[in-house]
Amino acid sequence: MPLVGVSAWQALVENIGLSRYQKILIHGGAGGIGSIAIQLAKHLDAYVATTVKSEDKEFVQQLGADKIVDYTTQSFENILQDYDAALDTVGGETYRKSFKVLKNNGTIVSMLEQPDSNLMKQYGVKAIFQFTETTNERLTKLAQWIDQNNIKVNVEKTFPLDETARALDYQKDNHPRGKVVITIG
Ligand SMILES: NC(=O)c1ccc[n+]([C@@H]2O[C@H](COP(=O)([O-])OP(=O)(O)OC[C@H]3O[C@@H](n4cnc5c(N)ncnc54)[C@H](OP(=O)(O)O)[C@@H]3O)[C@@H](O)[C@H]2O)c1
Repeated sequence: MPLVGVSAWQALVENIGLSRYQKILIHGGAGGIGSIAIQLAKHLDAYVATTVKSEDKEFVQQLGADKIVDYTTQSFENILQDYDAALDTVGGETYRKSFKVLKNNGTIVSMLEQPDSNLMKQYGVKAIFQFTETTNERLTKLAQWIDQNNIKVNVEKTFPLDETARALDYQKDNHPRGKVVITIG
């Protein structure tokens, strides 16, 4: 939670200023940051679209996603339009194509990509690269939100410390939902 939760908080609350009834596209909704960002966006009463592979559709539906796009068979940029904001946790073409779904004056926050000034001009969009910083203030606000709401952190699998190498292989090969945890002691 400290990294993925603060990443979602810093992006949605501070960088985007997401508010009620606004529409946000969250890429990689089954991932660490994406799965928390969906829950935070719903808490803020926004409308949430997310991109996932087909096996993850039910998971993000349970988190509250309103519109689910299967990125392996559908082109989100041809389905979604007039969004106020996007959170990019994937980068590359996914980042570049996201400008097309945003309104003029919309905002895109990327966890991976530096702002593309040509696309910013072409679509009239504000682009931000976010470097997440886990400050005391953010951690405190995040902890209050978690305590007051029933936030789901999906732990897909747990490994003991001496099997850390196996845990990293699992993470790489299985693309888990949410998190893989190492237990100590
Ligand atoms: N800038 C910073 O300060 C900062 C801080 C934290 C993290 N990060 C970076 O942010 C990224 C996201 O972090 P995370 O912890 O959320 O990672 P993660 O748990 O691996 O989540 C990424 C998700 O994206 C999905 N995905 C892959 N290709 C996709 C596509 N084309 N369209 C939609 N979804 C796709 C993956 O699932 P499948 O492949 O199974 O579909 C996975 O669920 C990572 O690259 C991380 O290094 C940056």
